[in-house]
Order: sequence, then C-alpha cells, then structure tokens
Amino acid sequence: MLNAAVIGRTLVFLLLAIALASAAFAAYVYTASERYLGEVVPQAGFAYEENQDPEFLERGRHIARTRGCFGCHGQQLEGLVFEEEWAWVGTAVAPNLAQHARDHDAMTIEAAVRQGIGHDGKALWSMPSYNFVLLADDDMAALIAYLQSAPVIEKALPEPDLGWEARWLIVRGEAQHMAEWAVHMPELLLGPDDDPQLVRGEYLAKTTCNECHGFDLRGDLAGDMAMPDLAILAAYSDDDFRHLMKTGEAIGGRSDLPLMSMVARDRFAYFTEDELSDLLAYLRTLPGTPIDPDASWRQLN
Ligand code: HEC
Ligand code: HEC
Repeated sequence: MLNAAVIGRTLVFLLLAIALASAAFAAYVYTASERYLGEVVPQAGFAYEENQDPEFLERGRHIARTRGCFGCHGQQLEGLVFEEEWAWVGTAVAPNLAQHARDHDAMTIEAAVRQGIGHDGKALWSMPSYNFVLLADDDMAALIAYLQSAPVIEKALPEPDLGWEARWLIVRGEAQHMAEWAVHMPELLLGPDDDPQLVRGEYLAKTTCNECHGFDLRGDLAGDMAMPDLAILAAYSDDDFRHLMKTGEAIGGRSDLPLMSMVARDRFAYFTEDELSDLLAYLRTLPGTPIDPDASWRQLN
C-alpha cells in the first residue's frame, strides 16, 4: 500500500527529473545557438587610411544619416536599447557608436557593418548588415572616420541578451544571423558602361531601400508586414516622390505608412536633391526588369 512518504518521495523525484531535463534542454539550446553564431570568419582586406579632412568626415556623417545609423544607434550615436519593439529577440542593444569606434579598429567596424560579424567574433543578430554589404570602400572609410571623430555622449546601457525565442528559432534552423543574410546580397547589376545616373541610383537604392523592400527592391514580407515592390514608384511623379522622401507622406496625401514614414523622416529627408533624382531615375527602371522568384535571399524568409 502506498503511504504518504512514498508518494512524497516519488513527487520530489519527478520534480527533480523535470528540473534536470529542462536545464539540460536549455543548455542544449544555448550551446547550439552560440555555436551557430560563432561559426563565422570575417574576410580581411579592407584597406583603411586615416583621413581627417572635413569634407571626408562630412561625407561619413551623410552616409550615417541617410543609412539609418542615427535612427537605431541614437541621434547622438549614444546607443539605444530595443526591448518592447523586438521582444522576441530578447534585449538588443545598439551600442554607443562614437565610443565603439574608439574602442575598436577600422577592420573590426567594417566586419560589423558590411559582413555582419561583431567585435567578439560572433555573427550579429539585429544589426541589418545585409543593407550595407554594397557600401563602397571609400564610403565605408568615410563612415568610420566620422564615427571616430563624433563626440562621445556617455550613456549607461544594459548588457545585450539574445532571448530564448530567438535561440529556439536558430536551433530549429528557422532564422538566420546577419552574416548569413549578408552573403546572399547580390552584386550591383550596373557597371562603368551604364548610364552614370542609373549607376548612382542603383547604389543608393541597394544601400538603403533593400533593408526592407527586398534585396532586389521588388518587395518583401517580414512576418506579417508587407513591403511593396518599388516598381510602385512608376505611379509617382517627381514631386510625389520628393514629398514621400521628405515627409513620409504617400501619393495622394496618404499617411498610412507607419514604418516607411518613420525611416523617411529619419533618413531619406537628408538625401540631396541630386541623390533623389538619381534614386528615382533608377527605381523607374524596375518595372521593365523581371523578378527572379528563386533568388537565394528570398528562400531565407
Ligand atoms: C535597424 C537598426 C540598426 C541600424 C539601421 C544600424 N544598426 Fe548597428 N546595430 C544595431 C544593433 C541592434 C546592434 C547590436 C548587435 C545586434 O544585436 O546585432 C548593432 C551593432 C552595431 C555595431 C557593433 C557590432 C559589434 O558588436 O561589434 C556597429 C559597429 C554598428 N552597429 C554600426 C552601425 C552603422 C555604422 C550603422 C549605419 C551604417 C548601423 N550600425 C545601422 C542596430 C542597427
Ligand atoms: C525600415 C524599412 C524600410 C525602408 C528602409 C524603406 N522602406 Fe519603403 N516601406 C516600408 C514599409 C513597411 C512600407 C509599407 C507601408 C508601411 O507599413 O509603412 C513601405 C512603403 C513604401 C512605398 C509605398 C508607398 C505607397 O504609395 O503605398 C514606397 C514608394 C516606398 N516604401 C519607397 C521606399 C524607398 C524609395 C526606400 C529607399 C530610399 C524605402 N522605401 C526604404 C519600409 C521601408
């Protein structure tokens, strides 16, 4: 006959077994996800020369402004914490970039920005490095020179923490780190023989708009958020386009673009008039080019 003592011991044993199994499972998820993030090797070869020329630094500031470094790393580059917005990621911390640029060398910063590999040798998770793969060497150098020269604004930031939800997706093979996304970014299509305005426009589009609208700018789906094919701009006049870029307001005065409006005001409002002309000239060529439904980056979604 079972007595209370036996039942009690059995219960304790069961609880212990459950606790042990949970700990072993957590350890497995943690180790496997860490291994995945650590399986990256930065490519060397970025040649960086010190240059404190004011025009060069201004170029770097313009790149930082128009490519969204301020929006995510803070308007004074002081660092920002993403908790509620990206709850599934855990605690993502965009570091204080002015400080970071003094603590790390140019190659380390380049590896983070264009290759998606952090200073600790692990792949980045939230920083959209795939958007910067095509940044030209001189723009990359100007960006670094600017970050090194920007005043350091002190701010206390928490330790970043990759959450269990993200780690579990990694273990199941359902989410990729930024270094993996970055290698899928295709090369620029236009070259020295093409119309220089379109060449400049493609470069701008594929180091800005491709963060959200797909690597080929032909639309993308992130979770349940749809980002349209930029061939939609065929419907925009020159003035409509400039208005969208400067205010975030769509054609016909529509303001139903929450994310787009935010990035337009934070980044694209700072494009020069020439840059806007180049960008629109290129985006207007999109309707004439076919979409590749099998593009490798699309399979990562
Ligand atoms: C969408 C938001 C976002 C944008 C845009 C962004 N970053 Fe980041 N960045 C982050 C986050 C978040 C991290 C922290 C690492 C992570 O979670 O991936 C980070 C990390 C970094 C790091 C440190 C990586 C390391 O650990 O060594 C550098 C350097 C960096 N970003 C530079 C830039 C620059 C330069 C730009 C603009 C060209 C930029 N970032 C644009 C969000 C962003
Ligand atoms: C951070 C993400 C992000 C970036 C970067 C971005 N977009 Fe968007 N865009 C969106 C989203 C999301 C929508 C859909 C509306 C919404 O939810 O804000 C959109 C909608 C649009 C629309 C549709 C407007 C309409 O009439 O409905 C146009 C045009 C557009 N974007 C152009 C651009 C161009 C050009 C760039 C690059 C200079 C760009 N976007 C960069 C996220 C982005």
